[in-house]
Amino acid sequence: MRNITVIGTGYVGLVTGVCLSEVGHKVTCFDCDKEKISQLKLGKSPIFEPELEELISKNVKINRLSFTTNHSEAFKEAEVIYLAVGTPQKEDGNANLDYIFQAAMDISNYAKGNVIVVTKSTVPVGTNEIIKSLIQADSKNQLKVEVVSNPEFLREGQAIHDTFNGDRIVIGSSSNYAAEVISKIYEPFNIPIIHTDIRSAEMIKYASNAFLATKISFINEISSICEKLGANIDDVAHGMGMDSRIGTQFLRAGIGYGGSCFPKDTKALVQIAGEVNHKFELLEAVIHINNKQQIKLVTKAKERCGSLQGKKVAMLGLAFKPNTNDIREAASLQIANHLLIEGANVIAYDPVAVELAKKHFPQQVKFTSNLIEALHMADIAFIVTEWEDIVKLPLKLYEIMMKTPIIFDGRNCYPLREVNNYQMEYHSIGRSSILNLPKE
Ligand code: UGA
Repeated sequence: MRNITVIGTGYVGLVTGVCLSEVGHKVTCFDCDKEKISQLKLGKSPIFEPELEELISKNVKINRLSFTTNHSEAFKEAEVIYLAVGTPQKEDGNANLDYIFQAAMDISNYAKGNVIVVTKSTVPVGTNEIIKSLIQADSKNQLKVEVVSNPEFLREGQAIHDTFNGDRIVIGSSSNYAAEVISKIYEPFNIPIIHTDIRSAEMIKYASNAFLATKISFINEISSICEKLGANIDDVAHGMGMDSRIGTQFLRAGIGYGGSCFPKDTKALVQIAGEVNHKFELLEAVIHINNKQQIKLVTKAKERCGSLQGKKVAMLGLAFKPNTNDIREAASLQIANHLLIEGANVIAYDPVAVELAKKHFPQQVKFTSNLIEALHMADIAFIVTEWEDIVKLPLKLYEIMMKTPIIFDGRNCYPLREVNNYQMEYHSIGRSSILNLPKE
C-alpha cells in the first residue's frame, strides 16, 4: 500500500485515483477547482462514466480516497505523485504545458522527502526530464525526485473497464528503484507491464494514438473508393480485420475521429516531429483526410439536393461518440457550421449532450432531447453519433415522421437489406445508396 497523490481530477486523474484506491492504495486527489472537489467529496462525479460514482462513494467511505484543494494536505505524506493535468492544444498545434509546469512548482514547494513523480498526462518527448529539473531547481525542501512516464490508454465511456483490463502498462524511467515501486503499485491490476526509458514511453502514447487515427483515416479513404466502385466497406473491413496482423478494431468507417485526444495528439506529434526537422507527411495526410471526412455528410447532401437552402435538417447525435456527453472536436460542430453556411435549418438531437452543446454551437441551431421531435417534418436526417436509441430506432419512424425520408448515415447504423424494406432514400459511408423514395 502506498500514499499516492493525484494532481488533476479530469478524466485521467479521477479514474486513476479511484482505481488505485480500489486496489488498496491510500489516494488523495488534488485539484484547484473548489466546486469540483466539493462535489467529489459528496461522492458526485463531474463526468459521465459507468461505475465511477459507485467506486468514488465506496472508497471515500472506507477512507482510502479523499479530495482536497489544499496544497499542504495534498502533498505532506505523498510518496508517489501522479501528474494528470490537461495538456490542451495551443493554436499552433503544440501541447500547452502550463498546467504541467504549475504542478511541478507545486510539488517542489509542498512535497517533502523522497518522491516519485509519475506523469500520466500526454506530454511531448523530453518533458519528463524538464519536470524533474524544474522540481529540483526550485525545491526548498531538499526533495529527492525520480520521474516516471506512465502514459494512459483508457477510452472515454469505458474508462474503468479499460483501467482494470488494459492491454499493457508502460513504465518509462531511468531509475530502477522508481520503476520497481510503480510496477508494485500496479501488481493488483494483473496487466502486462513493459519497461522503457522515459522518452520511449512518452513516444509510445503519441505513436499509439497516431496509429489508431491512421487506421480510421485509412478505412475512411477505402470507404470513399468503395462508394465509387460499388463495394461494401463493412464487408471489406471485416475481411481485412480477420487477418490478425491487421486486427478488427478501429476499422469502422464513418465521419472521422473526434474527441479530446486523437485530434490534439495527432497535431502535437506533427509539431514534435517538425521540431527535429522531420516532416510527418503520413500523419499530416491522416489529419487532412479526417477534416474532410467530418463534413462528408454535408458534401453528400449537397451533391444529392443541390441547394440545402431552407431545408430542415435533423442532426441525430452531437457527442463525439456514444456513451459520453463530450462534444470536444466532434464532427457535429463542423457539420452544423457547414449546414448553416448552406442556409439549412438545423435541429439537433442528443440524449445527453444538449445542455453542453447549447453553450458551444451557433445560436441558430435548435436543440431537442427528443429524437422523434427532431425528425418531425424534416427534409433530411443526418446520423452523426451511433447512440443506441438511434441504432435501434424502428426505420418505419423515418418514413412516418419526416417530410421526405432522405437519410445520410455517417455511422452505418443500419444493414442495407433492412433499409431496403422501407420507402426511404438512404446514403451511408462506403456502401451503395438505397433509393426507395416513391416517385413524386
Ligand atoms: C482514445 C484512445 O482510444 C485511447 O486509447 C486513449 O487513451 C485516449 O484516446 C486518450 O488519448 O486519452 P477516446 O478518445 O476516448 O480514446 O475514444 P475512441 O473510442 O478511441 O474514439 C475516438 C474517435 O474515433 C471517435 O470519434 C470514434 O467515433 C472514432 N472511431 C473509432 C472511428 O471513427 N472508427 C473506429 O473504428 C473507431
